[in-house]
Amino acid sequence: MTQKWTPESWRNQPIIQVPTYPDQAKLRETEERLSQYPPLVFAGEARDLRKRLGDVALGKAFLVQGGDCAESFKEFHPDNIRDTFRALLQMAVVLTYAGAVPVVKVARIAGQFAKPRSADTETQGDTELPSYRGDIINGIEFESGARVPDPERMVSAYSQAAATLNLLRAFATGGYAGLEYVHRWNRGFVADSPEGARYEDLANRIEEALDFMNACGIDAESTPQLHGTELYTSHEALLLGYEQALTRVDSTTGEWYDTSAHMLWIGDRTRQPDGAHVEFLRGVQNPIGMKCGPSLDPDELIRLIDLLNPDNDPGRLTLITRYGADNVTEHLPKLLRKVKAEGRHVVWSCDPMHGNTIKASTGYKTRPFDRILKEVKDVFAVHKAEGTYAGGIHVEMTGQNVTECIGGAHALTEDDLSSRYHTHCDPRLNANQALELAFLLAEAIKEERDAGAHVKAS
Ligand code: PEP
Ligand code: CO
Repeated sequence: MTQKWTPESWRNQPIIQVPTYPDQAKLRETEERLSQYPPLVFAGEARDLRKRLGDVALGKAFLVQGGDCAESFKEFHPDNIRDTFRALLQMAVVLTYAGAVPVVKVARIAGQFAKPRSADTETQGDTELPSYRGDIINGIEFESGARVPDPERMVSAYSQAAATLNLLRAFATGGYAGLEYVHRWNRGFVADSPEGARYEDLANRIEEALDFMNACGIDAESTPQLHGTELYTSHEALLLGYEQALTRVDSTTGEWYDTSAHMLWIGDRTRQPDGAHVEFLRGVQNPIGMKCGPSLDPDELIRLIDLLNPDNDPGRLTLITRYGADNVTEHLPKLLRKVKAEGRHVVWSCDPMHGNTIKASTGYKTRPFDRILKEVKDVFAVHKAEGTYAGGIHVEMTGQNVTECIGGAHALTEDDLSSRYHTHCDPRLNANQALELAFLLAEAIKEERDAGAHVKAS
C-alpha cells in the first residue's frame, strides 16, 4: 500500500545523495523562510508544458532539453544566460524545420544546482573532505570550511533562479527571440564552421521558407509566434527540502505543484521505487522526467511508471535514456518493447552525455563529440526498428566557447581542454558543438522524412 502523499511524505522514505547539515535548526528555519517566498513558476505554465509534452509523446512535437550540468554562483552572468538561451533557440529552429513539428524547449537552468556524486568524500593528497554537491549545498573549493553544507546557499540559489527566470522571460517575449534573428545567428554559425559547407543546404532551405512566409505577409509583426518563443525551465529534483519549500497548492485547481521549475526530473541514482525522490515527485503535478540508465530493467520501469504516471497521461512522464554509445542496442529495445506492450504513454528522450564520460590523459573529465552523436543516432535507429518515437534530446551544453568536450568540427583535442574548462561538474558541449549536433541530427531527420515522403508518393 502506498502511503498518502503530502509535500513531506518523502521524509518517511529512505533517501540517498543528500547532505548532512550540521546545523539542523538553521536548516529548518531556512526551509520555513523559503516556503514563504513567491513561487518561481506558475502552475498554469507547468500544465501548458505538460500539454506540449503530451504532443511529443504522441509523435506530434519534439523536445530539446539542455543547459549546464551544474549551474554555479560563479558563472552567474547575464551573458551566460543569454548565450545558453540563444544556443537552445538555434538548435530548436533547425530541428523544427527538419522534423516539421513544433520543438518544445526546456532549459536546464534557474535551479540546476544540486548534484548526485559517485562518492561521499574526495581525497587530494592526504586530505579527505566531503564531496562537492553543488552550489546550493556547499562550495567547490577543496577546503574544509567550503565543504560544510550551508542552508543559506538555498536562498542564494533561489535568488539566482529568480533573476535568471526574469531575464529568460524578458528574452522570450521581448523581441530577442524573433525567428529572423535566430536564423541570422544560425547563418553566422554556418559561415564560421569548418564544416559549414555541409550545413549550408539546410540553412538555405530555412531561408527560402522564411522568404516565402514573408512574401505571404507572415512575419514577426503579423504573427506573434515569430516574434517570441516559449521556454521552460527544469532541474533535477535532488535537494528535496528546497523542492518541498517551493511546493504549493495551485489555487485554480487545488493540486500540488513544485513551483521551483516547470519540469523536474529524478536522477539515475535516486529512482528507487520506495525512495524519497520517487515519493516526492509522484505527488506534484508538474511534468516530470526520469533518467534511465543500464541498471533499470523493464519490470522495474513499469513499476515506476505505475507510481509516477498512474493515469497514463501522455505528457506527464519523460523517460531520459542514457546508456553510452556502445550500449544503446543492448538496453533500450527491451524497455521500448515493454512500455509499448503495456500501452504506456511516455516521452522518450535521449541523453547522449552521461554514458559517454571519459577521463582524458590530462586528467580532465571529457566526452568525445563522435560518441555523443553515435548515441543519438543509435537511439533514433532503435526507435525506428521498434516502431516507437524518439521524442527528444537532453544535452549538457552552454552558449559559451568552453573547451570541455573533445572533437566536433573545430576538432578540440585533449590538449585543448585546459584552456577554457569551466564546468562545476560534467563537461558540456560548447555553443558550436551543440549546434553541430542539432544540424547533424536535423540532417538525419530530414533524410528520413524525405525518404518517407518518397515511399508515400511512389
Ligand atoms: C545529470 O543530468 O547531470 C545527471 C546527474 O544525470 P544522471 O542522473 O543521468 O546520472
Ligand atoms: Co551531468
